[in-house]
Amino acid sequence: MKTGSGYSTYQITLHWLIAVLVLFQLFFGESMTAVVDAIENGQPAAASDQALGSAHYWAGLTILALVLVRLVLRLASGAPAPANWGPRWMQIAAHVSHGLFYVLLLATPAAGLLAFYVGDPWGEIHSLAKPAFVVLIAVHVLAALYHQFWLKDGTLKRMFSSAG
Ligand code: HEM
Ligand code: HEM
Repeated sequence: MKTGSGYSTYQITLHWLIAVLVLFQLFFGESMTAVVDAIENGQPAAASDQALGSAHYWAGLTILALVLVRLVLRLASGAPAPANWGPRWMQIAAHVSHGLFYVLLLATPAAGLLAFYVGDPWGEIHSLAKPAFVVLIAVHVLAALYHQFWLKDGTLKRMFSSAG
């Protein structure tokens, strides 16, 4: 569904909150790996890894909850039509990359829970999220900058201020 001319304040807040939490997970996720490895080796994990590992658990579950809220909002009120429809390839690229984000945002915490409570191979599967997110975020940020500075179509601006 495509409605309205911009994102709502809720959608914008959720976008940036989730983005910050995902970056935190990507930067500090290895602490959780260190904790899991320490438990497997029967040794105590470093205090900093324990604290960051615990933060990883709760930040991950928060992402899952926020993404579910975001998807319900999206189903209820739709996503706005693009600021600039552009050529067909651009519509497909936006559609596919946003869809992939939602798939990753749901599958990663789910695999994380399985890694935590079941163990391998879920730990390895969950760890694949890191390169997948890094590539997708790089493409996403480049696309946002391309819209802002090359096409000058207001796409980035509307992820900062709501249409009202
Ligand atoms: C979008 C949310 C999440 C992201 C982006 C994420 C990302 C990561 C990253 C980057 C690592 C380190 C991988 C490595 O060492 O190469 C990791 C490890 C881990 N994460 Fe997450 N995580 C998320 C959610 C969760 C949740 C919700 C849980 C559990 C409740 C969880 C449990 C784990 C576990 C157990 C490991 C260690 C895996 C292993 O090596 O066995 N994660 N995560
Ligand atoms: C780091 C994690 C990030 C994630 C997981 C993420 C995810 C998403 C998703 C799923 C959408 C589609 C929203 C929808 O229509 O339902 C979106 C839109 C958008 N994102 Fe991000 N994003 C991230 C970071 C960023 C960053 C760093 C920027 C800016 C440089 C950015 C700029 C935008 C813009 C401008 C849109 C609107 C696109 C449009 O109007 O069609 N995002 N993002």
